[in-house]
Amino acid sequence: MNFKIHPLPTGRQALGAKEKLITMTLNGGISVIGAGTMGNGIAHVFAQRGFKVTLIDISQEQLDKAVITIGKNLDRMVAKEIIRKELKQETLDNITTNTSIADGVKNAELVVEAATENVDLKLKIFQQVDEAAPSGCILATNTSSISITKIAAITKRPELVIGMHFMNPVPVMKLVEIITNPANKKETTDTIVELSKTLGKVPCVVNDFPGFISNRILMPMINEAIYSLHEGVAGVEEIDTIMKLGMAHPMGPLQLADLIGLDVCLSIMNVLYDGFGNPKYTPCPLLVEMVKEGKLGVKTGEGFYVHASGSKELMVSSRFK
Ligand SMILES: NC(=O)c1ccc[n+]([C@@H]2O[C@H](COP(=O)([O-])OP(=O)(O)OC[C@H]3O[C@@H](n4cnc5c(N)ncnc54)[C@H](O)[C@@H]3O)[C@@H](O)[C@H]2O)c1
Repeated sequence: MNFKIHPLPTGRQALGAKEKLITMTLNGGISVIGAGTMGNGIAHVFAQRGFKVTLIDISQEQLDKAVITIGKNLDRMVAKEIIRKELKQETLDNITTNTSIADGVKNAELVVEAATENVDLKLKIFQQVDEAAPSGCILATNTSSISITKIAAITKRPELVIGMHFMNPVPVMKLVEIITNPANKKETTDTIVELSKTLGKVPCVVNDFPGFISNRILMPMINEAIYSLHEGVAGVEEIDTIMKLGMAHPMGPLQLADLIGLDVCLSIMNVLYDGFGNPKYTPCPLLVEMVKEGKLGVKTGEGFYVHASGSKELMVSSRFK
């Protein structure tokens, strides 16, 4: 493994008022696989800290969209004086895009996979990455729920495979849930912990169990909120308002489900259901139905709410009025 921990050269990343000190960099690059909701955020935070990032997706359109999103998010940070103006271009200059995994990971020191939450797809991607990435390269996955041990076992380097679970939206959320697998070398975990701190995040290390900690606790709550709606106990606004004002949650569970993506919520519930074999994790039929209909939340423009592009106003979908 070629990771080196050392201070960045003076001036490479002169700090803005609210930026944190950088303590670690890599000699090689970071490759991020998947340029969707999470992939663009992960590429953003690494590139903003001065790392060279290759963002990889099967879809060139998705890659182009991701770079535009990163630019817009950086604009917002400049406007709020979170970062200095020049850092926008410096960050974008640190990102290149690629539609080939084999080409995109060949010089990587760390790969962070953030492709669609589907076990067969992830296993296929990790096989490809394992073949193409340099031998010491750490392979991390941003999966919300799929077994890290299972993903590690498909590679020839299980000691270097780890879960690096960022939260949505990545540039804003502080937590990185780090999931070890029984074959991990301690250095792998230590490196990812250090790297997370370098990104200004707070790492929490947990063991590999279905849903880890975050989604084992969060998803049954979201699923229960959807059941409550499905059974007519209350409407969308009432459910979210009760959880916001009564439990001091910053956003209601249905709004959060829209933000996460209903397809992601459904696949996590399925992993919990299969992993624990307990009927209490049965996904709500309404969730299943909405995913079938392509009503996935923010990413498709409609879920429990309608999400008009560029508007922050929350409008309950006409289906639930
Ligand atoms: N959405 C969330 O709030 C959230 C939070 C934490 C973790 N996650 C996890 O992050 C991962 C990505 O989720 P997302 O919400 O960004 O999904 P998304 O649907 O927004 O994006 C997935 C991307 O993966 C790409 N992709 C599919 N197959 C690919 C392949 N073979 N090679 C390269 N790219 C491929 C798709 O084109 C798409 O751009 C999932 O594992 C999910 O569980 C999601």
